[in-house]
Amino acid sequence: MKLLAVETSCDETALALVSCEGTLENPRFKVIKSVVASQVPLHRQFGGVVPGLAKREHLKNLPALFEKIGGDSLEKETDALVVTVGPGLEPALWTGIVFAKNLAKRWGKPLVGASHLQGHLYSFLLEWKDKKSVADIFPNVSLIVSGGHTILLSLQSLVKYKKLGETRDDAAGEAFDKAARLLRLPYPGGPEIEKAAKKGDPRAIAFPRPMIRDKNYDFSFSGLKTSLLYYIKQSFKADWKEFNKNYGGDGVEIKNLEDVAASFEQALIDPLVYKTAKAAGEFGAKSISVSGGVAANDLLRESLRKEAKKIRVDFFAPSPKWNTDNAAMIAVAGYVNLLKKRRLKIEAQPNLGL
Ligand code: KG4
Ligand code: ZN
Repeated sequence: MKLLAVETSCDETALALVSCEGTLENPRFKVIKSVVASQVPLHRQFGGVVPGLAKREHLKNLPALFEKIGGDSLEKETDALVVTVGPGLEPALWTGIVFAKNLAKRWGKPLVGASHLQGHLYSFLLEWKDKKSVADIFPNVSLIVSGGHTILLSLQSLVKYKKLGETRDDAAGEAFDKAARLLRLPYPGGPEIEKAAKKGDPRAIAFPRPMIRDKNYDFSFSGLKTSLLYYIKQSFKADWKEFNKNYGGDGVEIKNLEDVAASFEQALIDPLVYKTAKAAGEFGAKSISVSGGVAANDLLRESLRKEAKKIRVDFFAPSPKWNTDNAAMIAVAGYVNLLKKRRLKIEAQPNLGL
């Protein structure tokens, strides 16, 4: 069957038409069309996502993207529509929901709700080329790392999973974004820090690895961010008052930016990799997967790949374009819900879980 999916939970407006076949044990997907309108340049000037602006942009982008993807010519081939109902920014979510509801009514097609987090979790299936059945990757340990979430899961199947741990404060992507702001780099911070880090020495500054030795599978990143702030302050050799005054203004330059970025990136990634590999061992996983915007980070992907090889388990990560927000992954989550007969209420659920 073919599903038309709509995603507007944060600052990307996205639509996709995806062919979905097979069972929950071995589903197969083919992306026919996928379009994304990014609002990043707009929100960049505010240093983060502004919900009211996001809503306005989604309202503007949705009809344009709909035409771009094929408009009403898709009616015949579309079997059902899928829309992200949460988690995300409430005003942003509603724009996609109202759009999808109206279209489903006009076309007389069913509408299915999907969780944005499940979209990330299943996104590696968009490129599944393995001959073996999807069922063979289980038990699996999966890390979801995005701007709003950092969750470690143990999966027995696509639909049977348990949360092992999550962040106690900032999400990994949020930590990258906040650190970038401290370093005077633009939003979103993850790709900017990664770019600077590639030219730096990750051992230059000994930032802490919060909770890395704790027995649980939780994470914490706000202390790391504070360490970065202290480091910057110390390097200015100024008192707080002086620091705040100068640092707020222009012309403040961090001389060893590349080393700071590399050391920060390494400190953030180490606990993610260490705990994911540890969980894979403890739960007898046959595979590890990673998803979400932060999974576009090369160091994270390669470190997880190396760890997986060391402990002889498979490793799956979607290519970077499916890591950041898109609607193709929402179609996958919608298809799983259809097969599982899971019906989510078609209304904005800002705090929806998996
Ligand atoms: O999944 P996503 O597109 O949106 C949410 O669902 O939150 O994730 C966005 C987050 C941002 O915090 C961004 O800084 C981070 O993903 N990100 C990265 C990279 N690309 C995006 N973080 C580290 N390295 C990257 N290359
Ligand atoms: Zn996301």
